[in-house]
Amino acid sequence: MSTTNEGSGAVAAKVEAKLIPIHVMGKRYEVPESLTIMKAIEYAGYKYIRGCGCRGGVCGACSTVYRKPGDYKIYTGLACQTVVEPEMYLTQLPFYPALRTTYEFSELEGKPEEIFELYPELFRCVACNACTKVCPMDVEVLDYISALKRGDIKAAAEISFDCIQCGLCASRCFAEMPQYHIAQLARRINGAYLTPRAEHLKTMVANIEAGRFAEGLNELKAMDTDTLKKTYQERELEPATAGDDWTPKDTRYL
Ligand code: FES
Repeated sequence: MSTTNEGSGAVAAKVEAKLIPIHVMGKRYEVPESLTIMKAIEYAGYKYIRGCGCRGGVCGACSTVYRKPGDYKIYTGLACQTVVEPEMYLTQLPFYPALRTTYEFSELEGKPEEIFELYPELFRCVACNACTKVCPMDVEVLDYISALKRGDIKAAAEISFDCIQCGLCASRCFAEMPQYHIAQLARRINGAYLTPRAEHLKTMVANIEAGRFAEGLNELKAMDTDTLKKTYQERELEPATAGDDWTPKDTRYL
């Protein structure tokens, strides 16, 4: 993050809200109360060079730590999602590395023992639950770690599904384990080895490769924008109750 005054005037012009004080890296600023932390920091004149990605709460790049006056707790959140509060003391977390084990995924067989071997620190967990408390996505981190210790990869994959890899769990872990990397491996194994194959997808790919939709696609490609829009609006929708054997009347534009 660096400071700049560029752009902050434009933001100010657009925002007509009550100003509240916040502290960024120890320095006090007055910012509109409706802004997210990320926008407030930019309003204050800082420019994000890193620590900012999607701005939509899905990339995990903008982990933030803050305190509130008179409150002993350390709060964490995503800067792009959390709205500022009066007198909050903010610090953007820089990227810090957590150990991600190297493995050749295609050589794995999807067994719990492989995860235990790749991440033995799993068994250093003291169940303090700091990881869960710190998660800005409300993922039950301790629950998926406990599931993994029992060998339940599927449960771990499902519980960790909302993880966006921000790494805050690892930042607070007594056992110094990289929970989010372990969970990612669990989800990969679940997807590759434990989830049943989608047979209808295989059929559809075979149909595509056999050229079943080539004629329809060529027709679509040749259409002008208005005809294309009309065709889209008039397309036949798949019934909500359709079973696997549902076939539209017109399969050209499937
Ligand atoms: S910028 Fe991507 S989660 Fe905040």
